[in-house]
Amino acid sequence: MQRLYRKRIILGVGGGIAAYKSAELVRRLRDQGADVRVVMTRGGREFITALTLQALSGHPVHQDLLDPAAEAAMGHIELARWADLVLIAPATADLMARLAQGVADDLLTTLVLATDAPVALAPAMNQAMWRDPATVANAALLQQRGIRLFGPAAGSQACGDVGPGRMLEPDQLAQAAADCFASGLLTGRHVLITAGPTQENIDPVRYITNHSSGKMGFALAEAAAEAGARVTLVSGPVHLRTPDRVERIDVVSARDMLAACEAAMPCDILIAAAAVADYRPEVVAEQKIKKDPQSGDGMLLRMVRNPDILATLSARADRPFSVGFAAETENLLEYATRKLVDKNLDLIIANDVANPSIGFNSEENAVSIIDRARQVTRLGQASKGHIARQLVAFIADRFHKA
Ligand code: C5P
Repeated sequence: MQRLYRKRIILGVGGGIAAYKSAELVRRLRDQGADVRVVMTRGGREFITALTLQALSGHPVHQDLLDPAAEAAMGHIELARWADLVLIAPATADLMARLAQGVADDLLTTLVLATDAPVALAPAMNQAMWRDPATVANAALLQQRGIRLFGPAAGSQACGDVGPGRMLEPDQLAQAAADCFASGLLTGRHVLITAGPTQENIDPVRYITNHSSGKMGFALAEAAAEAGARVTLVSGPVHLRTPDRVERIDVVSARDMLAACEAAMPCDILIAAAAVADYRPEVVAEQKIKKDPQSGDGMLLRMVRNPDILATLSARADRPFSVGFAAETENLLEYATRKLVDKNLDLIIANDVANPSIGFNSEENAVSIIDRARQVTRLGQASKGHIARQLVAFIADRFHKA
């Protein structure tokens, strides 16, 4: 099982002798399925070459904050948003001190300030430096702010000392990175998720559908599974790989989707991320409809309403905690709030699909979550994976309080 499948990891390489293990770490992260971009500090470049890490990660190494060419390709803010996890290995005493101070004088420290993704450090230094009160205080401060520390281990050191301060082995770091995505917030819960578009047949060769890649729903399924839930993902036609530990049921039409969801009930939490076709042709022609010379340039197709899957399930006696999506091109919060009420939801997640850099087929999203008290929580633009994990954490929190 690839525990980091499609996770986007920034590997920060600081200036310590353990940097020679960063090369192996890139391999281990990629073995687990991660997409790795390396950022090196000036010190890191003294210990291992950028070329080595470029060859192993398959991407140019990011080195300077003030490099116009690099900024034009993927600037520091884009890189900060791109990441699902920032892992710094090795993290030297100096780097930890700078991070504790909130210094942003190079690319790596700037990224740490700019990212919403979790940040983890693998400290690596001489045992006396690790025990020094300044380092102890910095480590405590960083942890208080939510930065995770992986290790260090104790043992023999490059300088000949024996004690704490050895960087964890690449294998252990890759496993610790994977554990960051396993939150356990929904252990033992059943989460039902709809995703993708539905297709409504007109005749054997034609259909009506909606724009939807399914990426957001699949990312939610993955995040819910990582949080320990049993996940049923009912998906319309999409070209996506089923996330690990997720039971996927493929459907085509809205009515199929409703039937599959009803069969999967009961569930604790329903997240309706599918772009369901609101209407379907009243009759599906058995044979391909021919162009009719009598009707000139036009053709009339009578459509009927499809069932509302979300509203149907949230009206049941065994009603789950119900979460809907509102993809709107205008009056986002107003329309979304109306849907929250009309469909009897606990939460609605609004996204502005008029903005081409988020929503539909893009890799990123930015959303607002509205609750029954009309309180709005915004999640800034980030990868759909990162947004999904934030959403699952939010939903789990509200579910447990409900
Ligand atoms: O009404 P609208 O389609 O904008 O509502 C969006 C929300 O309702 C989404 O969560 C979508 O998955 C869900 N929905 C549904 N069944 C429908 C239409 C929408 O579950 N027929």
